[in-house]
Amino acid sequence: MTDFADRLRPATAEDWPTFSRALFTAFAEEPPASFVDAVPAHAELDRSLGLWDGDRVVATSGVYSRELTVPGGVVPCAGVTWVSVAPSHRRQGVLTALMRRQLTELHEQGREPVAALWASESSIYGRFGYAPATWRGNLSGDVARLALRPNVDLGEGRVEQVGVDEFRAAAVGLHDRVRRSVPGNLARDARWWDRGLDDDPAQRHGASERRFLRHVEPDGSVTGYAAYRVRSAWTDDGQPDGTVVVEEVRALTTPAYAVLWRFLLSLDLVRTVRAPTASPDDPLRHLLAEPRALRSQPYDALWVRLVDVGRALAARRYPARVNLVLEVRDRFCPWNDGRWALVGHPAGAFCSQTDADPDLVLDVEALGATYLGGVSLATLQAAGRVTEVSPGAVTQAGTAFRWPVTPWCPDEF
Ligand SMILES: CC(C)(COP(=O)(O)OP(=O)(O)OC[C@H]1O[C@@H](n2cnc3c(N)ncnc32)[C@H](O)[C@@H]1OP(=O)(O)O)[C@@H](O)C(=O)NCCC(=O)NCCS
Repeated sequence: MTDFADRLRPATAEDWPTFSRALFTAFAEEPPASFVDAVPAHAELDRSLGLWDGDRVVATSGVYSRELTVPGGVVPCAGVTWVSVAPSHRRQGVLTALMRRQLTELHEQGREPVAALWASESSIYGRFGYAPATWRGNLSGDVARLALRPNVDLGEGRVEQVGVDEFRAAAVGLHDRVRRSVPGNLARDARWWDRGLDDDPAQRHGASERRFLRHVEPDGSVTGYAAYRVRSAWTDDGQPDGTVVVEEVRALTTPAYAVLWRFLLSLDLVRTVRAPTASPDDPLRHLLAEPRALRSQPYDALWVRLVDVGRALAARRYPARVNLVLEVRDRFCPWNDGRWALVGHPAGAFCSQTDADPDLVLDVEALGATYLGGVSLATLQAAGRVTEVSPGAVTQAGTAFRWPVTPWCPDEF
């Protein structure tokens, strides 16, 4: 393993075609030409790590410098990506060496108290201290049954179908406002908007090009936007059987949100709606006359790892006062392993190492799961993942760690 660690190094621009092809080969996917031909603008090669066997790349990883919304604030976040090990080198400890080197460097650099990633399989990252902290709703339904409640306030605004440039002009600022109040949301700079709006026909898998809406008030201000695609289909006996795939709906007001959804649920020739990346707690359900008709098959989305427990816990806010000692078990990152005194309230928090007796004992994975406020400490206790030492500590910490807005991340990277 040490052997692997010594041989890891960042990829250079010259390495990129080989490096990126190795990544796609491990995923058994065809790489899009736009990705391998030139280093994408959002790539940060100096934060990558690769393992070479001769001139062959046999393992890859990368880090994106992102900003993550946490309860009550935003923190710099290491967005871990490009994780792959060639089939010829799997199950020999290469990923373990990569993770160890990456987390050690993140700790030593001191930039990001938190790391996050999207896991191809949920069996991989728990051993490295990551845990699912947001969930995708994976919503779907038959649009004929998805009418809005009769008393929904639809306001005075209107929906306009726009091109990508007009959409972007409106969406950038609006997203930057709404993302700050939703834990799990990520900031999008120009490079990330470029990437998100890329619409390679080879990646559409039978769906239309991406289409865009904006919601405009009578005074001309834009209060919402949506992006979607339509997959056209017909039944054998000639009935329209299309699907609208909703990628994102964001709004500053409830009427804008409702009107955008009403538009999306009433497109001609569409029978089914799918919103795979929507929040499992999307307000849409509560706008519907028949809420059960909106089906949901949630599964894990963004996984979170506290790189530095003290800095991470001090960086968020707590809606109820907490004053406890947490004994954190972290076998993979020994600098976190130990007792942490946490004092938190709605306006701020402090967290430092202590020798005092613990009130709660939990591993760093459980702390990552609850960090964004979406996973209950009582649930983790019920699963044997949290041990209460002082009576009432789970109730106190569990109340303080929750957050009114369900964490959600629509940005896969
Ligand atoms: C997932 C992947 C990176 C694992 O790399 P690896 O070098 O084989 O991992 P390691 O040898 O360091 O494994 C460490 C441990 O994790 C386990 N593990 C690794 N991948 C696993 C998986 N997919 N499912 C379950 N366990 C897994 C190993 O069995 C090993 O367990 P042990 O310590 O009890 O022996 C590699 O198989 C791969 O590239 N897969 C395809 C691409 C992919 O899914 N990448 C992840 C993107 S998020």
